[in-house]
Amino acid sequence: MASRDELKRNAAEAALAYVKPGMVLGLGTGSTARHFLAGVGRLVASGMELKGVPTSLETAEEAKQLGIPLTSLEESFWLDLTVDGADEVDPKLDLIKGMGGALFREKIVATASKKFVVIVDDAKLVRRLGTRTPLPVEVHPFGWKNASAALEGLGAKVELRRAGGEPFRTDNGNHILDAHFGPIRGPGKLAARISGIPGVVGHGLFLKMAHAVVVASQMGVRTLEPTRTS
Ligand code: A5P
Repeated sequence: MASRDELKRNAAEAALAYVKPGMVLGLGTGSTARHFLAGVGRLVASGMELKGVPTSLETAEEAKQLGIPLTSLEESFWLDLTVDGADEVDPKLDLIKGMGGALFREKIVATASKKFVVIVDDAKLVRRLGTRTPLPVEVHPFGWKNASAALEGLGAKVELRRAGGEPFRTDNGNHILDAHFGPIRGPGKLAARISGIPGVVGHGLFLKMAHAVVVASQMGVRTLEPTRTS
């Protein structure tokens, strides 16, 4: 039986089929995206011309070590393809992302991409977002408790994410509030309300963004595409 990590790698390897010579790629963050990065490193080493925009400092470091040429959104306004992991995927292919803390840059990079492909193992598939994981919300440190109270007002139990006993800091110097809503009934409305809270810099609801989700399970790899038209 394949381990979770092997499944993540299987999804990442399958997503390499989307990569074509000359592309500018958005490079995701997390343990699944790391496998994709390794594959991109191999393609570059074999002579394929590719460039990447990293979604975190960690990914930038890893990409450098793999010899993947990096660029920025200033230099490359539109990206051809972003491939990234997710924490939850619902039947509409809406996502929760951000358990790795990189949601702010991940959302910008994915939005700047002509194609956004998500790679997951099947444990990430849920009926409703919020079932397995809290919703990560990035907040500016100034007044974070007020933002936390506002999220509680929307029905969440909120935890300030910590690392080594200290409040976790994102690559942008902000905090993450993990908002436990439980299964979310109206993700669109909730996303709009959270975006309206002063001090919120970003949140992990990635709605109507994925063009394809590559899912690896013990049965093999399959690709899901949304039925939406917009
Ligand atoms: C990083 O901030 C996240 O959005 C990750 O993409 C997500 O948490 C998935 O991570 P894993 O691939 O490590 O499960």
